[in-house]
Amino acid sequence: MPLASHVTLLRGAGLRPAGDYFAAAADGAGGPAEIVAVAVDHGGRLAADASLDAVLPARAAEVIAAYRLTGKAGEIAETMALLGPAAVRVVFLGVGDRSARSLRRAGAELGRRVADGKTAAATVVADESDEQVQAFAEGILLGSYEYSLKSGASDPAAAAGQVRLLVAGPRDRSDALSRARAIADAVALARDLANTPSAAKSPQWLADQAVSATAEHGIGAHIWTGAELSAGGFGGILAVGSGSARPPALIELTYTPADADSHVVLVGKGITFDSGGLSLKREGAMRFMKMDMAGGAAVIAVMSALSRLGVTKRVTGLISAAENMPSGSAYRPGDVITQYGGRTVEVLNTDAEGRLVLADALAYADAVLKPDQMVDIATLTGAARTALGSSHAALYSTSDALAKSLLAAGDASGDRLWRMPLAQQYLTMLDSPVADLSQVSRAGGHAGSIFAALFLREFAGQRAWAHLDIAGTGRVTSSDGDLTYGATGFGTRLLLRWLSAG
Ligand code: BES
Ligand code: MN
Ligand code: ZN
Repeated sequence: MPLASHVTLLRGAGLRPAGDYFAAAADGAGGPAEIVAVAVDHGGRLAADASLDAVLPARAAEVIAAYRLTGKAGEIAETMALLGPAAVRVVFLGVGDRSARSLRRAGAELGRRVADGKTAAATVVADESDEQVQAFAEGILLGSYEYSLKSGASDPAAAAGQVRLLVAGPRDRSDALSRARAIADAVALARDLANTPSAAKSPQWLADQAVSATAEHGIGAHIWTGAELSAGGFGGILAVGSGSARPPALIELTYTPADADSHVVLVGKGITFDSGGLSLKREGAMRFMKMDMAGGAAVIAVMSALSRLGVTKRVTGLISAAENMPSGSAYRPGDVITQYGGRTVEVLNTDAEGRLVLADALAYADAVLKPDQMVDIATLTGAARTALGSSHAALYSTSDALAKSLLAAGDASGDRLWRMPLAQQYLTMLDSPVADLSQVSRAGGHAGSIFAALFLREFAGQRAWAHLDIAGTGRVTSSDGDLTYGATGFGTRLLLRWLSAG
């Protein structure tokens, strides 16, 4: 679904905080604004001059007192202003401490109010940094995201709202705004892919989407299927995909800017539906497994935005795509599979499919692509969700420097991470009496997220590698800030931020 709002910039060296909102409200390219948003800082302090009082039914300070506004980020109160004979809605919008985080949340609340085709004039007032302007715009764009297959729903693009962002001061903010647009478009793409029902979402469909979303942005693509996967030895992807009528694929996307000084490989889990296979999931656990390709969706979305954001690193995206289904041709507990590169794995539970498809891609990247750094992203374990919920994704890494830069990108982007240990003491759980490795711990269900990370590390060779387990952060059950019901696109902003930094 296209984003349901647009942001344009209005800039003037001498913009007055309130008077000029109303000037912008009265005439603007798209007609007069129906909503004027006025920022309220922490402590209920109004970021506007006295010209506001003249058009409000009561003085602004009294409105703030009457509604008991605290200025908390995202807080909203609405009143009315009279501009000559016309009534205009005035939204008092809490912006908290004006951190990027607060402004993203504030922007999202405003974005929700303009999503039905309304026009608003809003401001971050004066000398905010580009970072803050970007965060506010990102919030506006993403807060209005909605995925709907309701019959008779209006086309969100046609009904898109408009926000005219007023920024005072001499600086040109168009870069900050185009970064916000590129990032919001990418996150919306990741959400769309993950929200799409699996009936429509085969591995081949995912590959087609990956190509159509990235080809125009200078990304090369190779889709490995059937005989090519067999000849290459991608035994994990083939085994997991073997139960489905819709064959698996490895999607390889390449971004090669001139003079790149380092090469990063991103690996995404692309299970287009996870029934559990013969180790079938119970009903409640299967309900949202159309989103088990959310990691792969984030990788596709990141690839689609690299050239728009001017990333200078070489980046390869690998998405291991398969549908995990039970059938007469499905792989079974007790099977021993051969992963890319020749190592054997004893399968004990066909529902631990993610690590098998990721292992092939990591081993291939290590042996053939030989990157400087590898990061995989996957809805891998219920254990990560149990441990961290939806506030942070689990981060594992063999490199402290890589972990540190990912944690920083997480905090700055809003997609937050929490580092977990690759605890040595669980290593023996990887032993199998019949194969090189055991796919799950035979001892039972402790440290499930750590075990999965230890398993993946076996396939990352000696490279600087990080693993993001997004089982808890890939989806939200209700809208919160710039996250809206359903898929979150988690990891897209984080990885774009990380790849854009130095
Ligand atoms: N896709 C699931 C993990 C998952 C759970 C993602 C909840 C999102 C929300 C994964 O393939 C899975 O089934 N993992 C098993 C592993 C177990 C069998 C070792 C799990 O976590 O239960
Ligand atoms: Mn599973
Ligand atoms: Zn899964």
